[in-house]
Amino acid sequence: METDVKFWEESYINKKTGWDLGTISPPIMSIINQLNDKNLHILIPGAGNAYEAEYLFKHGFCNTYVVDVSETALNNFAKRCPDFPKKQILHQDFFELKMKFDLILEQTFFCAIPPAQRTNYAAQMASLLSSGNKLQGVLFDFPLTENGPPYGGSKEEYIRYFTPYFKINQLKKSDISHPLRANKELFIKFTRL
Ligand SMILES: C[S@@+](CC[C@H](N)C(=O)[O-])C[C@H]1O[C@@H](n2cnc3c(N)ncnc32)[C@H](O)[C@@H]1O
Repeated sequence: METDVKFWEESYINKKTGWDLGTISPPIMSIINQLNDKNLHILIPGAGNAYEAEYLFKHGFCNTYVVDVSETALNNFAKRCPDFPKKQILHQDFFELKMKFDLILEQTFFCAIPPAQRTNYAAQMASLLSSGNKLQGVLFDFPLTENGPPYGGSKEEYIRYFTPYFKINQLKKSDISHPLRANKELFIKFTRL
């Protein structure tokens, strides 16, 4: 299935970005604040304006990568954070990425892809992580509808997609979500088998 690059690009050009918090979210900040190794290779897929990458960079994490299909979103990020290494800003489709990371941070990316791609998402996440490395972040917890993005999801569904590749360390309601997402997010910590 083709990614609707035009839809995402136009959303950023026309500033129709209801998902954009304008700052790093509390759950992702909390994950980052618990990291000690500043050399970790970290990926933020579907990073958009990439406030999380900006936060990481400002806190000394030098191997953060962002990937997004929207050039406008990535340019916004590069302008805000001009010293961030350009080679770590990947303008390409997440599903075509072939690299390895120590940690991948998920936020409002899974919910952005069409549900038919969810199996591929889990497999691609698995291929980007070596055994023992982690996928962490937040996934939405509201019923799946035909219309999206965002497309909803549930704990049961996530267990189904991820257990073939990951040990589920945490999959629980987030109690530190941004107020706009309160009670709608699950905090996740999955370890690659
Ligand atoms: C709902 S937005 C979330 C952006 C960001 N994570 C945030 O919290 O603001 C989804 C993002 O995923 C990007 N995207 C969608 N499909 C993609 C794909 N297949 N590969 C890379 N990026 C993709 C879009 O361009 C958009 O920036």
